[in-house]
Amino acid sequence: MPSDPLMGDAVLAENPINLARGGRMSQEELSQALRYAIIAELDAINLYTQFARLTDDERARKIFLDVAREEKTHVGEFLELLLSLDPDQVKELEEGRREVRELLKER
Ligand SMILES: [Fe+2]
Repeated sequence: MPSDPLMGDAVLAENPINLARGGRMSQEELSQALRYAIIAELDAINLYTQFARLTDDERARKIFLDVAREEKTHVGEFLELLLSLDPDQVKELEEGRREVRELLKER
């Protein structure tokens, strides 16, 4: 399992920046980089939310929660760019939404 100095063992995929080996990223590698970036943003949301829950310092809690909210915006930015590069992801994202709506309607 590849281990990234920034992400530890939480990320299973190879960092596409390593794959580029000093050259430019292909469009597929850019898509991989964006998925990697989305993972990092989601992990940051969990991390800052956990820090906010663990501290008794109200000022720190406020900042952690504010930054966690900003990370959610970053998820949206990276996702929007990824969707512009990966039409199959657009299709499957909608399929996943449809399946959940369908299942929740059955109850
Ligand atoms: Fe971020």
